[in-house]
Amino acid sequence: MKLTLSVIKADIGSIAGHVAPSRRLREAVEAFIRERAPSLLLDHYISHTGDDIAILMTHTRGEGDEQIHKLAWDAFLSGTAEARQEGLYGAGQDLLKDSFSGNVKGMGPAVAEIEFEERPNEPFLFFAADKTDPGAYNLPLYLAFADVMNTPGLILSPKMSQGFRFVIMDVNHTSGDRVIELNAPEEIYDIAALLRDPERYVVESVWSRASGEQAVAVATSRLHNIAGKYTGKDDPVMLVRVQMNFPATGEVLAPYAIGHFVGGGMRGSHQMPLMPVTLNTGISYFDGPPVVSCAGFCVHNGKLTEPIDGFAQPFWNTVRDRVSSKAMDMRRQGFIGTAMLPMSELEYTGIAEKLASLDKRFAVRAETTAPAASKR
Ligand code: 13P
Ligand code: 13P
Ligand code: MG
Ligand code: MG
Repeated sequence: MKLTLSVIKADIGSIAGHVAPSRRLREAVEAFIRERAPSLLLDHYISHTGDDIAILMTHTRGEGDEQIHKLAWDAFLSGTAEARQEGLYGAGQDLLKDSFSGNVKGMGPAVAEIEFEERPNEPFLFFAADKTDPGAYNLPLYLAFADVMNTPGLILSPKMSQGFRFVIMDVNHTSGDRVIELNAPEEIYDIAALLRDPERYVVESVWSRASGEQAVAVATSRLHNIAGKYTGKDDPVMLVRVQMNFPATGEVLAPYAIGHFVGGGMRGSHQMPLMPVTLNTGISYFDGPPVVSCAGFCVHNGKLTEPIDGFAQPFWNTVRDRVSSKAMDMRRQGFIGTAMLPMSELEYTGIAEKLASLDKRFAVRAETTAPAASKR
């Protein structure tokens, strides 16, 4: 059967700052979806990562379907009403438009969707990250789909040896989707040249060149490009189909052991290492560190198994310890140099205003003539 996986997530309010949504808020979203689901969905799964709530839905209506998007939008509105009642911080934070217009893209919530012919066994992974932007997935996807050092399947599996096609978006271009398609392995240097700048160039999707099937869908929205000002970090979701023609689950998860530095953390303005965490984990140290969770499923005739927690296995405890040390090391240098994001990415206007006012106080010193060297 032709199945669509849609995951739509939003920050609609949280307890104690940008930490985690309340139980009542989660229940309000869940109740709304459960009530409306029978006519639209085959199945759903609701979770939170940091302060973001994600609704994963299975259905047969295709990508960008108005009714599916409206269902999620209305569920977030219902959650926002609950958040306001409880006085949660940032109630309705990611709902940037007043009225729904056909599709939640460009309205604040993040969306990742894949439509495909369901395989007899259909394993996939659902990632959700908080306190970071969609470029956080650039390195893990490059390693999983283009680097033999990470993914032996690229040389062991004849299908995978045919490589993968990367669709990369220039997220600074706001008047329409500006994308480029590049093939691995022939063009890996070109892919790398773009992905090295994760605040501008973001992997949007990855496709098998052997079968033409889509393996990956990433939510690419940049909130500050929609709102024109800081309203919160993008906190991207991602779907990755695994096994057979695609990398194995372990090959997709392995890069998260690096704890690479990503844009995010406190006030969306810092460089912090990405920590793989268990499902439904909140936020703490320095409004971070940026976190990523992974729920693994099999789906059959649109019905989801229970999730397995991709980062709960004991191996990841050591990774978390290492990432904590990296985070504290970076924080020791406070606001200096690479600890903070470059000016173009700073999520507040305070520094720009400060620099503009200081600029007026700069003076070019009058040239002084060097004292004549004494001659004997
Ligand atoms: P403040 O609202 O306290 O500035 O914190 C950041 C934020 O709210 C972004 O949504
Ligand atoms: P969120 O985008 O997760 O709401 O975080 C905002 C922030 O500025 C935290 O310091
Ligand atoms: Mg928030
Ligand atoms: Mg968030």
